[in-house]
Amino acid sequence: MSSLDLEKIDLGKVYIETYGCQMNEYDSGLISSLMKKSQYSESQEIESSDIIFLNTCAVRENAHAKIYSRLQSLGYLKKKNPKLVIGVLGCMAQNLGEDLFHQELPLDLVVGPDNYRNLPELIGKIRNGENKINLTRLSKIETYDEIYPEVIDRIQAFVTIMRGCNNFCTFCVVPYTRGRERSREVDSIVNEINELHRKGVKQVTLLGQNVNSYRTESADFAHLIQEILKRTEIERIRFTSPHPKDFPDPLLDLMANEIRFSSSIHLPLQSGNTNVLSRMKRDYSKEEFLDLVEKIRSKVPDVGLTTDIIVGFPDETEEEFQDTLDVVRKVGFDMAFMFKYSEREGTIAQKRYPDTVAEEVKSRRLTELVELQTNISHEKNQEKIGKTYSVMVENHSKKSKKEVSGRTDCGRMVVFPIPEGESLDSMQGRLFPVQITAASSATLKGILHQ
Ligand code: 5AD
Ligand code: SF4
Repeated sequence: MSSLDLEKIDLGKVYIETYGCQMNEYDSGLISSLMKKSQYSESQEIESSDIIFLNTCAVRENAHAKIYSRLQSLGYLKKKNPKLVIGVLGCMAQNLGEDLFHQELPLDLVVGPDNYRNLPELIGKIRNGENKINLTRLSKIETYDEIYPEVIDRIQAFVTIMRGCNNFCTFCVVPYTRGRERSREVDSIVNEINELHRKGVKQVTLLGQNVNSYRTESADFAHLIQEILKRTEIERIRFTSPHPKDFPDPLLDLMANEIRFSSSIHLPLQSGNTNVLSRMKRDYSKEEFLDLVEKIRSKVPDVGLTTDIIVGFPDETEEEFQDTLDVVRKVGFDMAFMFKYSEREGTIAQKRYPDTVAEEVKSRRLTELVELQTNISHEKNQEKIGKTYSVMVENHSKKSKKEVSGRTDCGRMVVFPIPEGESLDSMQGRLFPVQITAASSATLKGILHQ
């Protein structure tokens, strides 16, 4: 067979649906690359695909619920095409494994985050008559170093720099679904970013469950950033997420001095009360968190700060919850992701702390917190009216094709009209000076500064 014939072989069309975090989006790109290398093709249309992968999340109960109902709704496709292969991948696969097969769902394959290299071989086995295969073996070394994901967005891309987590925050299932921490080699990361830059990508977001712990024989996280700045020409570097307990100081100096290193930090608070933080095993107190924010702001005054917060962790009292509101008021985050505590299978909290806070109490606290944060976001955005920011254009605004949206250096989203003679195509990835003219809690609006 000639190499030309080999290129024509298509072993099947793969449709991937991604749930959860940015790490999963990156992994879906990896899976797509891996499948293409094994003569499968990518499909954008679920109805006519031969293989459906749901790349899942396990971080909260509603993430699981979504997948169960999605699988049920796919039953009709399986009836229409008995050869269709349906697989659950990602964190929920790792978390539930074999048990997923006991639910009478249209499901052939369950594969965890460290086993994606085996996907083509497992599909082959299913096509040869094996059924209900579960491969959820965690690895201490897998970092998919030499596999680069498909680039989906022209302008911005994610790059995973480490996998797994060793922190074992008591509420969190990630150390069980993604296993132990391992860092990718600097060279491999630099090469991937250079490749992305060559394809026209302007901004990369470095991903890790806890980037402070990034470590190879030659580099820690700040070194890695320096290497990327030195050895690539990527215009903007962002990252997520650091842990407040050991935030690396040198990072702030880089942020203050390097224009290509974005001044935005996603700093997960989780709770503002020292006792709750200790039950969560977060290893910092309310005061330490506030001191860290002060230090960050003293070095990088216009830093964009965002966070994650959980309400209703077991035994959280009203006073303890008030501390969370207090920290939120004192810090003034630009934006926050806020959640009700959801007990997860296998976590330390599940074994140690019964889920005692009533659902109505959780809901009420969440509403109170969301209201407070919305007011703060609104106020903070109002303060920006009249100021001019350098905005990197990413896309059309959600509301109008006559406007574009982009991000400031400090990570804030700005929408502004497309000027005469320009189009989204001509503007994407370029920096424009934009003066803010109006603001709501969610968006900044502006005009091109002449
Ligand atoms: N319940 C609610 N929220 C959770 N998160 C992680 N685990 C849980 C849980 N069991 C939130 C944390 C984390 C974000 C990704 O999801 O705030 O930072
Ligand atoms: Fe989960 Fe804590 Fe690790 Fe974040 S640092 S992934 S919250 S265990």
